[in-house]
Amino acid sequence: MCIFHTNTFLAFLSLHSYLFSVSLLILNSLFLFPSSLCFLSLLLSVYLFFHSLFSMSSPLLLNCPPTLSIRGFIFSFISFSLIASTCTIAFQERRREHNALFLYLTSLWSNHQSTVPSTTTLFSSLSPIKSCTPTWPVISAHSDLAVPRPSDAVFKYLFEGMKAYRGVDNKIRLFRPSENMNRMINSAKRTSLPTFDGQELIICMKKLISLDKEWVPYSKNDTLYIRPTLIGIEPTLGVSSSNHALLFVLTGPVGPYFPTGLKPVSLVADPKYVRAWPGGSGAYKMGSNYAPTLWPQAEAIKIGCQQVLWLFGEDHQMTEVGTMNLFMFWTNEQGEKELITPPLNGIILPGITRKSLLELAHSWGEFKVSENVITMQHLIKGLEEKRVEEVFGAGTACVVCPVERILYEGKNLHIPTMDNNAVLTTRFLKALTDIQFGQVEHNWAEPVE
Ligand SMILES: Cc1ncc(COP(=O)(O)O)c(C=O)c1O
Repeated sequence: MCIFHTNTFLAFLSLHSYLFSVSLLILNSLFLFPSSLCFLSLLLSVYLFFHSLFSMSSPLLLNCPPTLSIRGFIFSFISFSLIASTCTIAFQERRREHNALFLYLTSLWSNHQSTVPSTTTLFSSLSPIKSCTPTWPVISAHSDLAVPRPSDAVFKYLFEGMKAYRGVDNKIRLFRPSENMNRMINSAKRTSLPTFDGQELIICMKKLISLDKEWVPYSKNDTLYIRPTLIGIEPTLGVSSSNHALLFVLTGPVGPYFPTGLKPVSLVADPKYVRAWPGGSGAYKMGSNYAPTLWPQAEAIKIGCQQVLWLFGEDHQMTEVGTMNLFMFWTNEQGEKELITPPLNGIILPGITRKSLLELAHSWGEFKVSENVITMQHLIKGLEEKRVEEVFGAGTACVVCPVERILYEGKNLHIPTMDNNAVLTTRFLKALTDIQFGQVEHNWAEPVE
């Protein structure tokens, strides 16, 4: 009787062990843990699995020495704790996916390994950060610091924004990629990061896109966004240029900027915020230019505007619209029809769309095309005298984006772009997208294969 009980007990424990091991395996494969603990638990679970099988079928079950039941119990216990620790890691990894706020405390040379006991007080002052779940602070060896994913915003040290377009003929094309490479290399020089051969990177990107060609949407509205990024990776605390850099390219399909046709935007023009200044880095596409624009952008939304019109100087020069170059189509004070955009004087990002629109307008030869300073007073006078026809932003994301209202010094200025049927804006949109999607053959569109 006693033997029967012990056998049943051992069988029960072994079965437990087996079930735990299997669930551990499933958990491991579900969450794909990279951590060494999980690898260890995987090994142990495999061991437990075989042990359990052995125990279940072993003739020893019939005799059941008491030591075996102790072993079964220990194995059950180990697998149970493994599951508990695996679940903990699983939840931590899951939280990482959802706006987790991490605190890693590390020093370059030490090998300390520890956790810090209290997060509640440490992070209490950070609670306004929306839906961030602080994870347990970790003191870790520098080499163990979990490097964020390359797509994390912190890494947009300097970058480019390009697109791959699937044409009406099913061929995939890039739009003026050499222009992006030139701009990226200029940004690299300005950041003291190593430069590279832009044409070689284009070849690599084409290879990537042709491998991933099914990610380029089959549509004239959607595209594959391409984000070449360059970051310094020299392990130093000093303010010095980095001799080591990482160049990587991220891609992802994106939908149309205006899913239901051109939609005008409203802007707030507040001289208290400045995007770029002479001698600064506004003419380069580097991450440090963008983070400080997020607060004014959030403020704009709060007061019912969609984007910021960036002003500069005592005379409130209009420089850029959000992350787009600015264009105005009007009759100037000399009575000439003119397309005007601010000059590349160091505070304007040299947009590839901007350059393309200027070249297209020059080639049409129908109106004057100028790169000149436009102030708020020019705009207001032009509006009062009904000389302004269209104001729009231009950039890779939307191609062109009509403006209908500017909130300036407490007054709403109505911009008649849509009243004029956005004729020029729409014409530019069609001309550029026809080239990008292969409806019109043009050497600006480079086939990927
Ligand atoms: C500040 C700024 N201006 C203008 C542009 C438009 O440039 P592009 O036409 O090359 O997209 C961008 C977009 O990258 C930008 O970030």
